[in-house]
Amino acid sequence: MIHLFWYMLSLAGPRGIRKDPILGLDEGVAMDVAHIDLLSPDSFVAGVPHEWFTYLRRHAPIYRHPEPGGPGFWVVTRYDDVVEVGRDPESFSSENERGGVVQLRDVEMDDFNRGGRMMLTMDPPDHTRYRALVNKGFVPRMIQALAPHIREITGAIVQRAIAKGDRCDFVVDVAAELTLQVIAELLGVPLEDRHKVFQWSNRMIGSEDPEYAISDELVRQAQIEMFMYANDLAAQRRKQPRDDIVTTLLNAEINGDRLSEIDFNLFFLLLAVAGNETTRNALSHGLLALIEHPRQYQMLVDNPSLVPAATEEILRWASPVMYFRRNVTRDVKLRGQQLKAGDKVSIWYISANRDEEIFKDPFRFDITRSPNEHVAFGGGGPHYCLGANLARMEINILLEELVKRVGAAPKLTGEVKRLRSNFINGIKHLPVQLAAATG
Ligand code: HEM
Repeated sequence: MIHLFWYMLSLAGPRGIRKDPILGLDEGVAMDVAHIDLLSPDSFVAGVPHEWFTYLRRHAPIYRHPEPGGPGFWVVTRYDDVVEVGRDPESFSSENERGGVVQLRDVEMDDFNRGGRMMLTMDPPDHTRYRALVNKGFVPRMIQALAPHIREITGAIVQRAIAKGDRCDFVVDVAAELTLQVIAELLGVPLEDRHKVFQWSNRMIGSEDPEYAISDELVRQAQIEMFMYANDLAAQRRKQPRDDIVTTLLNAEINGDRLSEIDFNLFFLLLAVAGNETTRNALSHGLLALIEHPRQYQMLVDNPSLVPAATEEILRWASPVMYFRRNVTRDVKLRGQQLKAGDKVSIWYISANRDEEIFKDPFRFDITRSPNEHVAFGGGGPHYCLGANLARMEINILLEELVKRVGAAPKLTGEVKRLRSNFINGIKHLPVQLAAATG
């Protein structure tokens, strides 16, 4: 089932766009959209092609994108439409018997994929019941309880990064390290097992990026090992319950519903993946934006009470998950455009977060922006990110620890390398120097 997830669902396909009659365009603009290729991960290597999204928002907000060897898909780029699709699961479903509703490519379901339920690919009412169960593990009290430990981990990670001088890679040494440790803490993985969970989740995240490419066989092996590990952990908690999320999830019961063993194991895998690369990239983009805007970094040093607003701006700016997919269940109109049952739709959070009708001066990074109702965690529909509060807390704590421990504005010491993906807005390497605060 985890097969459905993003690390496996490459959109790579033959490059080049057919010049078929394109639906959903203003007349006379077809020549320009011929350059737009949102399927190829290569389109995102040099940077997010914001000029394409700006163009689409303006000229073809509901755009029919061609798909070599496939039926094509709708690209939804305006804020209001992204929110509307995300909040209407009856017309825009997250389920698909062919699998692959998270990303655009359809995948064949295999034995491992069948038999379990993963919340990202369920619709109400099943999703509602499942979500109510797992919500019990994510109530603010549970997340808040992690704060002191996350602060401790973060402080230690930042100190080590400072000690590395000009050899610090912020992605590897800080962002990835922190998010992995937090997930391990969240899942109650004992210290001695953490390296295993790190390795499995790293392998499962995989990617279309050649730097991380590993065989399907290794990915599958990591899934199975992690699955079995989750099983053992559950068995231990059943014997010796604790006041933690795992125990809460195992005991959660609503109207006689409980998580089955396989549900729990899949959820464990989902968290290990969903909470990982997303938060890592929010942290890395956040630091990069602050390096590029040193005055805003200084504002944070002078006034740390700006941290929560800075976190929201970082989330808007980064949009670590660039899009999600839905399937149209019935003929429906969106911004006047006719969509048909069975069509694929992609909702682009990264574009909605730069919608000039919603955000004043959207290409300005402004840590004091208010209001800032970004859709980095989704548009408020039933699948709204379960880990939003945890992710916010991690970003807040990292910013607070950075401005406290690092004096002068951080400096870039080498080339920023981006992830090859059209799904995750990722940074692979961010060489920086963090100087220790004096006085
Ligand atoms: C900056 C970090 C993160 C970003 C940008 C992010 C983004 C998203 C987005 C866009 C969705 C889908 C929303 C929708 O379809 O309406 C989602 C769902 C989800 N996220 Fe996150 N996420 C982040 C961190 C986390 C963390 C830390 C966890 C868990 C520990 C997590 C767990 C989940 C889960 C379980 C879902 C599925 C919820 C459902 O189907 O009901 N996420 N996230």
